[in-house]
Amino acid sequence: MCGIIGISAKKNVSNDIVQCLKHLSYRGYDSAGLSIAKDNEILERKIQGKVTNLENFLNNYPISGNCGIGHTRWATHGEPNTINAHPHTISNVSVVHNGIIENYHDLKTILEKSGVNFISDTDTEIISQLINIELINGKKPLEAFKNTITKLKGAYAIVAIFRGYDDLMIGTKLGSPLLYMKAKNMILLSSDAYSISDYGSSVTYLEDGDIIVTEKSKISLHDHSLKTIQRPSKKIKKRDKDGLNGYDHFMIKEIKEQPDVLSHALSYYLNFSKYKINLEKYNFDFTKINRIIISACGTAYFAGMVAKSWFEDIANIKVDLDIASEFRYKKMFFDNKTLSLFISQSGETADTLAALRHAKENDQKIVSVVNTVESSIAKESDLVLPIFAGQEIGVASTKAFTCQLATLASLVLFLAKKKRHINASQEKALIEELVHIPSQVLDVLKYENDIKKIAKDIHKSSSAIFMGRGATLPLALEGALKLKEISYIHAEGIASGELKHGAIALVDKKLPVIVLAPDDIFYVKNLSNMNEVYSRGGKIILVGKVQNDQLKDLKLTGINIEVNGKLNIPIIMSIPLQLLAYHVAKLRGTDIDQPRNLAKAVTVE
Ligand code: M6R
Repeated sequence: MCGIIGISAKKNVSNDIVQCLKHLSYRGYDSAGLSIAKDNEILERKIQGKVTNLENFLNNYPISGNCGIGHTRWATHGEPNTINAHPHTISNVSVVHNGIIENYHDLKTILEKSGVNFISDTDTEIISQLINIELINGKKPLEAFKNTITKLKGAYAIVAIFRGYDDLMIGTKLGSPLLYMKAKNMILLSSDAYSISDYGSSVTYLEDGDIIVTEKSKISLHDHSLKTIQRPSKKIKKRDKDGLNGYDHFMIKEIKEQPDVLSHALSYYLNFSKYKINLEKYNFDFTKINRIIISACGTAYFAGMVAKSWFEDIANIKVDLDIASEFRYKKMFFDNKTLSLFISQSGETADTLAALRHAKENDQKIVSVVNTVESSIAKESDLVLPIFAGQEIGVASTKAFTCQLATLASLVLFLAKKKRHINASQEKALIEELVHIPSQVLDVLKYENDIKKIAKDIHKSSSAIFMGRGATLPLALEGALKLKEISYIHAEGIASGELKHGAIALVDKKLPVIVLAPDDIFYVKNLSNMNEVYSRGGKIILVGKVQNDQLKDLKLTGINIEVNGKLNIPIIMSIPLQLLAYHVAKLRGTDIDQPRNLAKAVTVE
């Protein structure tokens, strides 16, 4: 998974490529590079680490030209070092690639037997080597490119430039995104629209198998047989230019945006004044549905876990939930009364997309809950429910999670009503819960100083346990994921009832145990679990209903959350967990927005 960019212009494109790569860094930041075709040469600069390293490198060792390609990498094949960084230039051609060439090993073995030397450990180099051989054998760039891609298996977006062709770029895609923009005196190819939204207001997405050829100001699109084709252009939204708005990190900015974005999402799906759900506007037939299959990855999966309990409890619809990377390999018992629902912030997660395609091949109706409405998952769905979180830049998902929950809650209520499983007054009460969510989030954000103190107390721990029951079990898993991904503290989320079946062995006076215990039917049971931790010397942090006597008796630290509804508990109680992870990571000095080894959109399986 990586970000790719190609720019052809009437000026030096080096700096523009670097600036666009910065916006693509969410797709990976292990290394960065660019190459430019100029005066019968291909100039190349690449370096380990983030795009800013490349920028500094270029300041000292500049290259310039009118047509070039750039790349920011999330390593799959080969270490994240400079040699494995893209572009991969082999004498006549330079290539950037996003995706995985599944048959690269077989192809590489054949080439090695014929005496070709490989420089890197990447799968991408096979593309450069194959194109180069075609060119040496006298083929023109387009033919060389096309002959090469017919040999590739896997998922890819590729852009290439060629020695001796100072204005030519050729690109294609299969499974991974690639789009182009014709801007003033400029043509841009990119993995996503936001990265180039400073240059224009519309883009054209390539379909799988399309080949794009750009030369000076000319653009042509071809199908696999090189027949010229057209694709429609689409208006795009401008990238969020506010930057950090004075915050230290995007993560904290995004945490604080939640009251606003939740209002936005909820007001789209609910009519606050009439206490009605606005989903009738979608022309989608839900009437036959009596089962839902949900699939997603990471945080989006935990949103699915919350939604499962809501669909079952509130709408009386059976839900089967599976992690997307497992989904395709299991028997899912698809039938025509089942709806397949996929949740993804980026809409590009390869495992989720593969699961969606598997469901589609089995004639499922597909609903997706996404943040990026121009994404592959959105495009391949029968119905798209946007979450309106706005651009999420921090790798740790925060506002996307709560907006996914708000959107899913609206769908749950809509189906519960359609299935006549709730009556008008129950519907009103549940909508009322949702209506108050933005202001309740605002209230909980006020605990930030208390949470900073807790963070100070636990930030040197090497491990932490999060535990919850019922509605808060998915939150325990999500809280642990949040903490580990940005602070690098090992964290586990468990069902409170499971403590005594194993995890209790870890409890000692150094271990923080974050107990998620709202004022619900499990409260008394959670209290017993807290006692079990207390009597073994564990450090209890209670998020939920905090009573004064407990503060004394169990020597716990508490964040008192006064919500007790089915829909609002998971949304509101996730906020302190996000703040805790953020402040622990800040004290530990980690790279919060771009934690090591991770990427914002995981476009490899
Ligand atoms: O873009 P998606 O929602 O499909 O991404 C799924 C996961 O990769 C993502 O939620 C990941 O777990 C986050 N880093 C969690 O904060």
